[in-house]
Amino acid sequence: MGELISDIDFIDRSAMEASETIPISVEENTGKTKKLYIESYGCQMNFSDSEIVTSILKKEGFDTTSNIENADVIFINTCSIREKAEQRVRKRLQYFKVLKIKKPDLTVGVLGCMAERLKTKLLEEEEIVDIVAGPDAYRDLPNLINQADDGLKAVNTFLSREETYADINPIRLNSNGVTAFISIMRGCDNMCSFCVVPYTRGRERSRDPSSIIYEAKRIFDQGYREVTLLGQNVDSYNWDPQGGKHETSSIDKRTGKAHIKFAQLLEMVAKIDPELRVRFSTSHPKDITDDVLFTINKYENICKHIHLPVQSGSSRILGLMKRTYDREWYLKKVRRIREILGNDCGISSDMIAGFCSETDGEHKETLSLMDYVKYDFSYMFVYSERPGTLAAKKFADDIPEQVKKKRLQEIIEKQQALSLERNYRDVNKVHRVLIEGYSKRSNDHLQGRNSANKVIVFPKKNYKKGMYVSVLVESCTAATLIGITVT
Ligand code: SAH
Ligand code: SF4
Ligand code: F3S
Repeated sequence: MGELISDIDFIDRSAMEASETIPISVEENTGKTKKLYIESYGCQMNFSDSEIVTSILKKEGFDTTSNIENADVIFINTCSIREKAEQRVRKRLQYFKVLKIKKPDLTVGVLGCMAERLKTKLLEEEEIVDIVAGPDAYRDLPNLINQADDGLKAVNTFLSREETYADINPIRLNSNGVTAFISIMRGCDNMCSFCVVPYTRGRERSRDPSSIIYEAKRIFDQGYREVTLLGQNVDSYNWDPQGGKHETSSIDKRTGKAHIKFAQLLEMVAKIDPELRVRFSTSHPKDITDDVLFTINKYENICKHIHLPVQSGSSRILGLMKRTYDREWYLKKVRRIREILGNDCGISSDMIAGFCSETDGEHKETLSLMDYVKYDFSYMFVYSERPGTLAAKKFADDIPEQVKKKRLQEIIEKQQALSLERNYRDVNKVHRVLIEGYSKRSNDHLQGRNSANKVIVFPKKNYKKGMYVSVLVESCTAATLIGITVT
C-alpha cells in the first residue's frame, strides 16, 4: 500500500496540515541574548503564522534555536480541529514541564487555535503555561513576554476583523528553499456545523494584494520557484480598497479602485514570472467560479490541481453539515472543472466518516461519489465532536467509534484504489517536475511534483533542487510516480 495513506497518523491530517514533520525553529546565532524555540501543529496557515511570530520576536532581540533545551522561551502553535490534535499538544506540555524543572526561568507560551478556544481555561488546566495568545494577538507577544518575565500570567485572545499581518516579512522555517506558502486571507465565515475554525480564527478578511505580490516577488528573487496561496476558503478572497465586503460591484464608487477577487489575484501572482509556479488551497466548492477555472487554464504556471473537499456524498448529511451544496451540485462543479481544465487536472478532497446520524446507506453514497469523481488523493477523518460547534449543540455524536473506524477504512481503501487508477493514467507520459529535494528513500534519487500535485521520483544525475525537469513516468504506486528524466 502506498505510503501516503498507509500511516493512520498521517491520514489524520488535512491538505493544509499535510506535513510529516513538525516544523520547528532553525538554529540562528546572531549574538542575541535570548533564544526562542517554536514548534507548530495543524494546518499550513498555522505554520505560516509561526513564521510571522518568529519575525516579530527577531525584532525584539531573540535568536531562534532548534534545540529546545537551549530555549528561554518555548512557543507551541496549536490546532483544535480534532480532539486528537489537542491531545498531542497536551502531551508536549507534559514534556515542557520536565524542562521547566531544570530551568525555572523558562517561559512557555501556547499560541494558535487551542489558545483561542480555551483562553484562560488553559492556564487553569495546564499550570506550566505562562502565555496564551490567539491567532490575531501575535503583535502583542513582546508585551506578553514582558508580563511573563514579571512573573504574571499573560493572555491575549482578542480576535480582530482587520489583522492580516500584511506588513510582516515571515522568517521561513523548515524551508526547502523551493516552495513557500503565503497566507492571502484569515478566518472563515462559513460555519460548517462540525468545524471549530470560525471560533478559533474569527471572521474572514482578505489581505492587501500589493503585500501578497511583494512577498511573492521577494521569495522568487530569493530562489523560490513555487508559492501556495493559503486560506480556509481562498475562492472567497475579496479585497476591497475601502474595507468591507461587496458582492456585486467590482469598482469602488468612492475611490474608483477595483475590488480584487480571487481570479484576479491568481492572475497577478501568475504574471510575476512564468518560472514561478502557483498553487492554492483550499477551495470551497460553493465559491470556486468559472473565472477562477478559466484563469487556471490560461496560465501554464498555475498548477492544475484543485483541492475541493466534499466531506460527504450524501445530500442529507451535507445539509446537516451546513456545507451549502448537495451531492448533485458538487458533481456539477466537478463536471465543470473537467470541461474547462480536462481530465488531467488533479482533484483532491477531504472526507469525514461517521458524522452525526449518518446511515450505512449514506456512507455508501460517499463511496459512490468518490467512484464518480475519481479523486487523485484525499485526506480522510473520522468525525470528532468539537465543543461549541453547531453540531455539538444540535446533534448527537451517535455513531459508535467502531462503526466510524470501519467506514473510514472503507473510504481509505476506496481512495487507494482510485489513486492507483489515476496514477496509472500518468505512466508512459512526460511530466514537467519542479525539483524539491532528495527522495525520502534514497539520496541517489530526487523528487518533485507535477502540475497536478503528484510526487514524482527519478534518478538524481546532476540535477538540483529548484530546477524544472521533464520526467518520463515508467511506473507508479498509489502514492508516487517513478520515472527517468528526458531533458
Ligand atoms: N477550510 C477547509 C478545511 C479546513 S479543516 C474547507 O472547508 O475545506 C480541514 C479538514 O478537517 C476539513 O475539510 C474536514 O474534512 C476536517 N475536519 C474539520 N472539522 C472536523 C471534525 N470536527 N472532525 C473530523 N474532521 C474534521
Ligand atoms: Fe471549517 Fe467550513 Fe470554514 Fe472550512 S469552510 S474552515 S470546514 S467552517
Ligand atoms: Fe488550522 Fe487547526 Fe486552527 S487546522 S485553522 S490550526 S484548528
